Amino acid sequence: MQNAGIMNVRKFEFKDRERVREIFFNTVLLGEPASLFFEGKDIISDALTLYFTDYEPQSCFVAEVDSRVVGCLIGAKDRVLVEKTSFDKIYPRLIWKAITSGAFLKIKNLRFICAILVSAVKGEFRLADILKDYPATLHINIDKGFRALDIGTGLINAYLNYLKSEGIRGVSLATMSEGAAKFFEKQGFKLLYKGKRSYFKFLLRKVLPIYIYAKSI
Ligand SMILES: CC(C)(COP(=O)(O)OP(=O)(O)OC[C@H]1O[C@@H](n2cnc3c(N)ncnc32)[C@H](O)[C@@H]1OP(=O)(O)O)[C@@H](O)C(=O)NCCC(=O)NCCS
Repeated sequence: MQNAGIMNVRKFEFKDRERVREIFFNTVLLGEPASLFFEGKDIISDALTLYFTDYEPQSCFVAEVDSRVVGCLIGAKDRVLVEKTSFDKIYPRLIWKAITSGAFLKIKNLRFICAILVSAVKGEFRLADILKDYPATLHINIDKGFRALDIGTGLINAYLNYLKSEGIRGVSLATMSEGAAKFFEKQGFKLLYKGKRSYFKFLLRKVLPIYIYAKSI
């Protein structure tokens, strides 16, 4: 862990786009990089962040330490709109990118895609209608070396204040990390659902928990 320098939380700006993509790529698997399960930085970064940075940048925040972005929260006021835009506009482009770049031919990627499809068939992504009172959503990641310095707390507070000013009544999120679950409990989120996700079993040799947390605003 590094010494905390001067920390500042501010709204996302277009100049932060590459850094946000990098942080999410480097931290997506329980704080570890996506390169452990996928070859194709651009494709995974698009899948993780493109809706937020390109379609709803006003709902995103970054945290800087000594003027360098070390953490970010990418949010959206309407989870249903995220899903619709992803299926209508983003995923078709990603599939095309994966075909033309040869990403579908790499064994590592095929393993991950098959694991995701098996999880989908098992119904692991289906959720009962528990989220209707919590329309907004978020993803948050802090660079290794800058965790446990209250940076996540600063980002969550900025986002909750923003949602409140926009008249949004609630926010929910999913995490597979036990540590992140504790973090969200500290932020006043309540556990709505606990399930299982098996798509990293081929890599981690275990089924991971999935926690859905929510907070009224
Ligand atoms: C989870 C994460 C966003 C938290 O941000 P952070 O800046 O490290 O957290 P903070 O310093 O603001 O911590 C706030 C509180 O949550 C607790 N907390 C944070 N991370 C924790 C962890 N991994 N395990 C247990 N408690 C944790 C802290 O102890 C602190 O409690 P305190 O006020 O009593 O000291 C960040 O650690 C991270 O990005 N981790 C790796 C990727 C990840 O899991 N992302 C979340 C995906 S949904």
